[in-house]
Amino acid sequence: MILDGKKVSEARLARLKEEVEASGLTPELATVIVGKDPASQMYVRMKHRACGQVGIRSRGVELPSDSTTEEVREQVDRLNQDQDVSGILVQLPLPPHVDTHRVVETVLPEKDVDGFHPANLGRLFSGNPIFSPCTPRGIMTLLQEYGVEPEGLRAVVIGRSIEVGRPMAALLLNASATVTICHSRTRELPSFTRQADILVAAVGKARFVEPTMVREGAVVIDVGTNQVDGKLCGDVDFDRVREIASAITPVPGGVGPMTIASLMENTFLAARLQSCTGAR
Ligand SMILES: NC(=O)c1ccc[n+]([C@@H]2O[C@H](COP(=O)([O-])OP(=O)(O)OC[C@H]3O[C@@H](n4cnc5c(N)ncnc54)[C@H](OP(=O)(O)O)[C@@H]3O)[C@@H](O)[C@H]2O)c1
Repeated sequence: MILDGKKVSEARLARLKEEVEASGLTPELATVIVGKDPASQMYVRMKHRACGQVGIRSRGVELPSDSTTEEVREQVDRLNQDQDVSGILVQLPLPPHVDTHRVVETVLPEKDVDGFHPANLGRLFSGNPIFSPCTPRGIMTLLQEYGVEPEGLRAVVIGRSIEVGRPMAALLLNASATVTICHSRTRELPSFTRQADILVAAVGKARFVEPTMVREGAVVIDVGTNQVDGKLCGDVDFDRVREIASAITPVPGGVGPMTIASLMENTFLAARLQSCTGAR
């Protein structure tokens, strides 16, 4: 079975558009981009386009690549104070001279629609999330939409980044899977991955997961977005692994669109919560 993230995402965005319209709220997403990395610019454009699709207003702040940590933080703080802004997304990675942790911690937790602020990660790891990081959240939605119930299953996540691996493991654990996190120092990686009922690859290496690493009948989630000869390619050797897996996400058209749908859902959630607390 192909887990069609594009189809599920489109259906969820259509539903969200109706909810936004019915709410009478005017959610707004502000993006902050530092420098002119073409991939980051493309991701930000896609996010703005999705906002337009669901009736969420968007504004883009572009800062020069030589901006200091303090300059980026000042900009974020202006958006924190702006009553019209429901959600703030700082596009990562930031240039190496900018302190990413300090910038991420500047975003008000209630506007942190990326879910990377320590307060939101803490809530996630304590089993009581509000804003979960968009990629893992989107993966959980995709599993749910296809009737994959993680409870009691063995889940293995390859990768331990704040953006994907760690929050993915936390969400699967919250859903009562038995979770193992693997990374570059893991010894005998295939001995772990072969046990997985749900295998999530967030490595950043093209076709890293081969059939010998996959248990027959596993659900395989490919987070990777690698450029190979000008084409987008996942972390999983899709053509060969699909022969063994019971379900698998394609790249493109799997996890990527679900990430964007989650961002839209988080932004609307932020607007709703702010309207309840009278912050807007
Ligand atoms: N589709 C989407 O919406 C979306 C969203 C976010 C990211 N992505 C993509 O997903 C991939 C991962 O993203 P990320 O931000 O998590 O990347 P990252 O921060 O570079 O993390 C990669 C992880 O893979 C681990 N790793 C590297 N080589 C390994 C090996 N040989 N064996 C086992 N583990 C290994 C690293 O281990 P160490 O920690 O030990 O270094 C690290 O934890 C990238 O291709 C990225 O572009 C896609």
